[in-house]
Amino acid sequence: PAPGWSIAADVVVVGSGVAGLTAALRCEAAGLTTVVVTKARLDDGSTRWAQGGIAAALGDGDSPEQHLDDTLVAGAGLCDEEAVRILVTEGPDAVRRLIATGARFDESAEGALELTREGGHHRRRIAHAGGDATGAEISRALVEAVRARGMRTIENALVLDLLTDADGRTAGVTLHVMGEGQHDGVGAVHAPAVVLATGGMGQVFSATTNPAVSTGDGVALALRAGAEVSDLEFVQFHPTVLFLGPEAEGQQPLVSEAVRGEGAHLVDADGVRFMAGQHELAELAPRDIVAKGIMRRMQEQDAEHMYLDARHFGAEMWEHRFPTILAACRAHGIDPVTEPVPVAPAAHYASGGVRTDSHGRTTVPGLYACGEVACTGVHGANRLASNSLLEGLVYAERIAADIAGGRSTLRARVPQPLPQSDRPAHPLLPPEARFAIQRAMTRGAGVLRSAASLAEAADRLHHLHAEARDALDENGKTAEPGVDTWEATNLLCVARVLVAAALRREETRGCHWREDRPERDDAAWRRHIVVRLNPDRS
Ligand code: SIN
Repeated sequence: PAPGWSIAADVVVVGSGVAGLTAALRCEAAGLTTVVVTKARLDDGSTRWAQGGIAAALGDGDSPEQHLDDTLVAGAGLCDEEAVRILVTEGPDAVRRLIATGARFDESAEGALELTREGGHHRRRIAHAGGDATGAEISRALVEAVRARGMRTIENALVLDLLTDADGRTAGVTLHVMGEGQHDGVGAVHAPAVVLATGGMGQVFSATTNPAVSTGDGVALALRAGAEVSDLEFVQFHPTVLFLGPEAEGQQPLVSEAVRGEGAHLVDADGVRFMAGQHELAELAPRDIVAKGIMRRMQEQDAEHMYLDARHFGAEMWEHRFPTILAACRAHGIDPVTEPVPVAPAAHYASGGVRTDSHGRTTVPGLYACGEVACTGVHGANRLASNSLLEGLVYAERIAADIAGGRSTLRARVPQPLPQSDRPAHPLLPPEARFAIQRAMTRGAGVLRSAASLAEAADRLHHLHAEARDALDENGKTAEPGVDTWEATNLLCVARVLVAAALRREETRGCHWREDRPERDDAAWRRHIVVRLNPDRS
């Protein structure tokens, strides 16, 4: 649809988690006119839900080199070592700047940062806030900083498509805004630099730790714009998500790795600690190994879940250190102080995304990406716990520096006229397609996959697309444009690419677990699957 209103800026940042707001604050501090657009409210999105913390070599005896080693091991041979080196060496100062921006982390009585452990880390290096409410504190601090500086923000703004000029360079984005006064309906922000920080795509699965807004909008936009996307098959399933029944759908309560970091045990229904002996770090092995250990034991015992036992923490420690998790468990009738907590893996994090270089530049000039939407190369086949908030910070700062450094070339660009046809270029899906996509993905492309299950998922997704396209071709009908139709359409777009990549990768590596190809195959597959769609098709 043609934009009904437009505004102009030097930079438009799409998304308002740790990555988006850090990029926006740093761009503004560099004197760039910056607009932040976000799909719901400024503090919605995944950052607010992060529990465990933010990893950085901040403790005595730790070093970026050790953090690098742990990250590379977790990434199962597919990390970009240079990208990781940037993350771990710039990370500690980036956290200090976050503290200077206003985030308050938990400290000891002597005023030193309290650090915990999580899966895959050989050291205590995870800074946390409010016990287990780290993301909420980071979000609070960044939102307050943005408001205190009077920065321009547009909430309830779903990003639609990238605008480009006649040379194919970024010229802004189109948005669908609802209920924001002067900016209502479809409009555009014209800007020569666009920073995608739209977060993840956990909602492609039925059960996920991600909030309802995580629908892959940034990856879908990038694919439609012809940008390269990489590693989408590497979806991380968090090992310990509160099990609320086999039919539970939507966002599920996370039980942070930090609970295991502080000494909780994973046990089966007989009380056996099944991770002991499977890995030198037992319950604190990298996340993919723990998720697999849980799934295997569930299969062996024909069980729907395992248990996390932290009764030995006692009431005081639970209340002080993990108040959020304690409250969530109790809200569901489970008291971790007196009983083991039922847990099972659920979709948690997209290790892949829009491919970027070490300055956050995508393959479309002027389009940047950071945070979960991006694939900078730091996560490889499996992200190390608590590296995501850090990646959002570090790469957002690098993007702001890159844009500010190229300021002389930041001329407003004249966008190409949007394709003006009397029907949309892509069929929109009806809102209820979201659930059909989630079911197909959960059945066929979940924590355990095979060629057969993936082919079935691909078939179902193809049908959903064909139905929408046929309705358009036969009678010009497409679903009414709106947030839920755009979201369903974006989910389908990213799900199809994810399944295609998972089918193509005929091995098991990191968080991609092919039952029919159980071995890691370095000779054939120590490489990335990079996808680029023709900008004319979805
Ligand atoms: C957690 O607290 O377990 C989540 C940490 C992460 O996903 O990095």
